[in-house]
Amino acid sequence: MAATSVSCFVLALMLRMAASIHSAPQLGWGSYNAFGVHVTDAEVRATADQMVSLGLAELGYHFLVIDDQWQSLDRAANGSLVPDPSKFPQGIPPLADYLHSKGLGLGLYSDAGPVTCSGTLPGHLGHEKVDAETFAQWKIDYLKSDNCYPQGKNTTNVDKYEIDWLKSGVQGGVVQDPPERERYIPMVNALEAVRPVRNITFEMCLYGWDHVESWGASSGDHLWRATQDIHDTWDSITYNLDCLDTDRFYEASGSSTGWGYADSLMVGHSLSEVEYRTHFALWAAIKSPLMIGFDLRGRNRSDSSVVTVSNKDLIDINQDTLGKPARCRMGCTWSTEKVTCGEWWGAQADASSSLFKWPPSGSKSVEVWSGPLSGDGMVVVVVNRADVAKTVSFDWSLDAAVPNGNYQLYDVWQHRYVRNISSPSKFTAEESLSSHAHLAFRLDLR
Ligand code: GLA
Repeated sequence: MAATSVSCFVLALMLRMAASIHSAPQLGWGSYNAFGVHVTDAEVRATADQMVSLGLAELGYHFLVIDDQWQSLDRAANGSLVPDPSKFPQGIPPLADYLHSKGLGLGLYSDAGPVTCSGTLPGHLGHEKVDAETFAQWKIDYLKSDNCYPQGKNTTNVDKYEIDWLKSGVQGGVVQDPPERERYIPMVNALEAVRPVRNITFEMCLYGWDHVESWGASSGDHLWRATQDIHDTWDSITYNLDCLDTDRFYEASGSSTGWGYADSLMVGHSLSEVEYRTHFALWAAIKSPLMIGFDLRGRNRSDSSVVTVSNKDLIDINQDTLGKPARCRMGCTWSTEKVTCGEWWGAQADASSSLFKWPPSGSKSVEVWSGPLSGDGMVVVVVNRADVAKTVSFDWSLDAAVPNGNYQLYDVWQHRYVRNISSPSKFTAEESLSSHAHLAFRLDLR
């Protein structure tokens, strides 16, 4: 009898945890790439207005996540966090209400240490219960929890260029002191405790450290950042991309295990439209959460960045119910070099060497990425990572892992079927692919 009730309890817990995990990668907007650490109430409201009027909310972009420095230096007498009155003069609940009135969700930022990454403002370590209760009371929908300074400012074993390998317990990944799992799980539990009144999606922004892929999901997590901060360079984008393609993250990312996150989109900044379309197509195919990262104010629907992130065919691929990330199959970085990932900036290289380069460029070939979709379909993305134009030719079966069969080939940028193909057979593009350009197809079984 006792054994039965224990197994019922375990089953109920498992079901509750499974139900609490999002079934598709999260979609939204994050303030950090657009505003750094300086976003205000007025800017978040204006962004919410634009999410609706640009049609992004309708496409599924839901969360608006406010990054670091929304807080005041000191907590209130009752221990709760206090928003910076110069940025959020009305406090957080009216802003949450405003977003909710538009069908959007509000996210806030904190840190699994005593201070956040900017170095002085309060993190949640040791305050998990009061913070989770405050967030629930404020009607927050999403919490991003960063991984800086676990023992206070300048006391981490990891800084921008160096890791204290001994302290990091480097066997299979960087670990801070105290370890990530000891610092994140109390917040996971605190969020679970408030779940009956508020469902708060949890982003564990811990750069893939401490093997988060092995315990993050089983702790009821929703998404875990697998990568370093993205920067507005081609090499940074492809470094984060290659990172998600390592076995440990690929295997662990999914609808029942939480989503491996390659960081917010850089679309809308200084790279070319060609590069950002490639970036968006690949983030969609690898099932990374898609968080827009540019200032939406003053943009209209024909703005090229808005058009890129509004590609419904790619959003549908990202949200496909099978939830299986695409992988690199041909020309991949891993086929010629070891992909280091989840390490700090250049930690694998000798920073004093003139040969030091971070992030590494990775593959300079034409790559073929592919992954299964529901209904026996496939997504195939072909990307030219070389600095010059290249011809594209590959075999659907051998190089793109497309199961044998007859398919209709749908071009997700032309938004139409372009031809019928069979696998195995060779595909040769009519025109060469310019540097950093891509082709993205959905293959529907005929
Ligand atoms: C870290 C995170 C970023 C951002 C900044 C804010 O670098 O990885 O995403 O939140 O902190 O300080």
